[in-house]
Amino acid sequence: MAATGGTALEHLRALAADCTKCPLAAGRTQVVFGVGDPDAELLFVGEGPGREEDLAGEPFVGRSGKLLDRLVWEEIGLTRSSCYIANVVKCRPPKNRDPAPDEIEACRPYLEEQIRLIDPSVIVTLGNFATRLLLHSSEGIRTLRGAAFPYGTGHLVPTYHPAYVLRAGGEAMAEMRADLVRAKRLMAPTSP
Ligand code: URA
Ligand code: SF4
Repeated sequence: MAATGGTALEHLRALAADCTKCPLAAGRTQVVFGVGDPDAELLFVGEGPGREEDLAGEPFVGRSGKLLDRLVWEEIGLTRSSCYIANVVKCRPPKNRDPAPDEIEACRPYLEEQIRLIDPSVIVTLGNFATRLLLHSSEGIRTLRGAAFPYGTGHLVPTYHPAYVLRAGGEAMAEMRADLVRAKRLMAPTSP
């Protein structure tokens, strides 16, 4: 929110770049820290880098990312450079397996610091891992989505992971669109 996040966030990125706090360090090509505006009002949190993200060093650049970009543009009118995109774990789990609880715990301080520095008014969690972590819940995304939750001084809007929407199609896509509209309504109006 305040236009001060940039330098501190770059410092954190540099710290994370050679992190070896969990076993995922061994299999990565590079740490995928995050992308976008350090002063964004809207923050997306995914699960962890896949193959393409591991190679590119940027979150959500594969098929899931293309869908995310399209839905965010169509429903909110923002591009990826005017929001911020990060993941629960910053290194690719081997063969895209789920991140393990100890890996999520080891990586959590980076995400928490990203949230603190960016200070978005709305966080959209994509799928079970991000939603459960930030809401301290063990419920599934199907139960948690469809509503907004208070988060700090702002809001958290859970939605499906775009990879799920790519598989499930139709109704899930419509629900994700509705969640993005919910997020848009909760964003602080930006001055002209
Ligand atoms: N899936 C995720 O959860 N994050 C990415 O960055 C890419 C795919
Ligand atoms: Fe460090 Fe997170 Fe990568 Fe684990 S996943 S090595 S905690 S940056």
